[in-house]
Amino acid sequence: MRQTRQGLPLAGLICALLALAAAPASAQETCGTCHPENRVSFDESIHAVESVTCSDCHGGDPVSREVEAAHSGKFRSLSNRREVPEMCGSCHSELERMRAYNLPVDQYAIYLTSQHGRAVAGGETRAAICTDCHGVHDIRRPRDPSSSANERNIPATCGQCHGDETLMQEFDLDPDVVTDYRSSIHGRLLLEEGSSAAPNCTSCHGVHGATPPGVGDVDKVCGACHEQTRKAFLAGPHYRGMIDAEIPECASCHSNHAIKRFGIERVESLCAECHGEDSDQAILGHKIHTLIEVASEAVAGAEELVHRADQAALEVEDPLSRVEEAKTYLTEALPVVHTVSQEPVEQLTRRAQSIAEEVEHELYSKLDRSVAHFGLVLFWFYLLLTIAILVILKKKLQSEAEAP
Ligand code: HEC
Ligand code: HEC
Ligand code: HEC
Ligand code: HEC
Ligand code: HEC
Ligand code: HEC
Ligand code: HEC
Ligand code: HEC
Ligand code: HEC
Repeated sequence: MRQTRQGLPLAGLICALLALAAAPASAQETCGTCHPENRVSFDESIHAVESVTCSDCHGGDPVSREVEAAHSGKFRSLSNRREVPEMCGSCHSELERMRAYNLPVDQYAIYLTSQHGRAVAGGETRAAICTDCHGVHDIRRPRDPSSSANERNIPATCGQCHGDETLMQEFDLDPDVVTDYRSSIHGRLLLEEGSSAAPNCTSCHGVHGATPPGVGDVDKVCGACHEQTRKAFLAGPHYRGMIDAEIPECASCHSNHAIKRFGIERVESLCAECHGEDSDQAILGHKIHTLIEVASEAVAGAEELVHRADQAALEVEDPLSRVEEAKTYLTEALPVVHTVSQEPVEQLTRRAQSIAEEVEHELYSKLDRSVAHFGLVLFWFYLLLTIAILVILKKKLQSEAEAP
């Protein structure tokens, strides 16, 4: 008993000391007492959670309460933007440190190859550094919706500079990339419908490697998502032709940022824009348009007929599935247009069209038969009705004649 009573205060003291040692390092730093605003925003960051401290980035003496001493030693204010990427990289390039988090360690290395990294290294500090995209003290995981590096916020984050007309003019860069992107099918999909399938700025420019894809690379960038379209494009003459002519593959027809949906009818004017009116290529474009249009009309006609047959209570399960098959061929024909060749498009439109014609043929004869059938029923109905009326009339006349 005596032993225990004596042991308790000692154990308590050890516990308190252990707890102090185990407390997050930032809690021991005095920096935050003099810089409460930075402390508050820092406390919400991923770094605070992971026990990164003020002095890990800034140096200085973390336990001193004296202004001068606190900022002594290897203290750095980091107000020189050129120092920042290397400082962030000092942890984020270290495999040992990042392994446990399963984080890649190449951001700094890739950043140095980017247009941003090269500009900053060359003394142009208005190009982006890590903190422009991630924040300074309040850095969050990019998957956190409130992170400035979250996919939904990326266009606005890049837009701080790339939407700044005066700044962009100085670098001879297009100041409309962000507004163009916002109006595009991709931008609307991401920003209005919240679809992660749509590309954000970094899907096409790389996350840390920001460079515009050059001629010869554009089809690869777009092809990451539009696989079938790229496959068709590579199979046709435009791939080599456009690279040799040094015009950016997909973007020469679709633009790079303001990408909109094209209807197939766009082929008509588009081919002529580069090849000239009445050129062989413009005529080819017209043929391709006609093939798809005629097949589409046939399939639409067949579909309409299936609906009529359905209303006439005919069995439509099989024709319906065949119409769906025909539609699939039509959908497949759209990427194939990118071969700018007649045969591969025609193979698909021919299949779609012949299915549509078969379905129409079959349904028309069934509908005819059902119309004939209905007529016969009507004929017998009237015949029997007339006979019944005659019989009733005859009986009535007979009973009147028999009456006294
Ligand atoms: C006793 C209060 C006090 C403590 C403790 C303290 N600071 Fe400061 N800090 C100041 C004051 C006051 C200034 C403004 C000094 C000036 O403008 O020269 C300042 C300025 C700074 C600046 C900006 C420097 C610049 O040149 O723009 C940074 C960064 C900074 N402190 C970080 C830290 C860090 C990191 C710690 C902890 C290691 C820390 N401070 C501890 C009071 C303190
Ligand atoms: C991940 C690295 C990192 C950590 C951790 C960090 N800072 Fe900073 N801090 C920076 C960078 C980078 C700048 C320069 C930002 C700028 O110039 O806009 C900066 C700027 C500052 C400044 C001067 C500008 C201002 O906002 O007033 C102060 C003061 C400061 N930090 C205090 C702190 C304190 C206190 C802590 C800990 C609670 C801390 N920092 C933790 C990176 C960091
Ligand atoms: C002292 C080392 C250190 C420094 C310096 C540092 N970080 Fe970190 N950083 C970490 C650790 C540890 C994590 C936590 C990793 C995790 O939880 O995935 C982290 C997480 C991050 C994350 C979230 C990653 C994710 O998706 O989980 C980002 C973004 C980040 N840091 C950016 C920066 C930037 C920008 C700078 C420079 C201003 C910087 N870091 C400086 C150590 C550091
Ligand atoms: C031009 C903007 C930009 C710059 C500059 C930038 N980043 Fe990033 N960073 C991003 C975006 C956007 C993401 C999110 C990518 C994603 O969702 O996959 C990201 C992701 C990260 C991650 C998480 C990686 C992962 O795979 O989860 C870390 C760590 C990181 N950045 C560190 C840095 C460091 C260090 C620097 C400076 C050397 C830096 N970033 C510069 C935009 C930027
Ligand atoms: C802090 C401002 C700033 C931010 C934020 C920023 N950039 Fe930049 N960016 C620049 C400047 C300035 C240049 C021009 C650098 C030069 O050429 O010297 C540039 C250059 C580029 C280039 C190369 C353009 C060319 O043809 O030379 C691309 C691509 C680019 N940025 C994409 C992005 C993307 C994508 C984002 C967002 C993830 C982004 N930038 C965020 C300032 C910024
Ligand atoms: C669908 C892919 C794609 C998306 C999304 C995209 N870009 Fe681009 N971007 C390109 C292509 C392709 C080029 C240049 C092609 C060419 O003309 O060589 C380009 C060029 C640029 C340039 C150089 C412009 C110039 O004047 O030379 C900048 C800067 C740029 N993009 C920034 C952005 C920003 C910021 C976003 C997000 C708002 C963004 N991009 C979204 C594909 C894309
Ligand atoms: C990250 C994936 C991704 C990348 C990269 C991408 N796109 Fe898209 N794109 C989509 C998605 C998703 C849609 C919407 C598909 C839909 O709803 O039909 C789309 C739609 C389109 C459309 C309209 C399609 C239609 O049905 O009319 C065109 C044209 C287009 N993209 C062209 C491009 C070009 C050109 C590039 C390269 C400069 C590109 N895309 C890069 C994902 C991507
Ligand atoms: C942005 C410009 C551009 C547009 C739009 C364009 N082409 Fe081309 N096309 C080229 C270039 C460049 C070449 C290779 C050089 C050459 O042969 O003229 C080429 C080559 C061709 C060729 C193979 C060579 C030849 O002369 O026959 C065909 C076929 C062709 N285009 C068909 C079309 C069709 C069909 C369209 C419309 C769907 C079209 N092109 C739209 C730029 C364009
Ligand atoms: C010669 C001009 C031209 C070029 C080059 C071009 N397209 Fe198209 N693209 C069109 C036209 C016209 C349409 C509308 C007709 C159609 O749907 O095929 C279209 C439709 C599309 C569609 C919607 C239909 C589909 O294929 O799914 C996508 C996605 C698309 N293009 C992506 C691309 C990509 C990716 C590239 C580069 C590999 C590219 N385009 C190159 C003219 C072009």
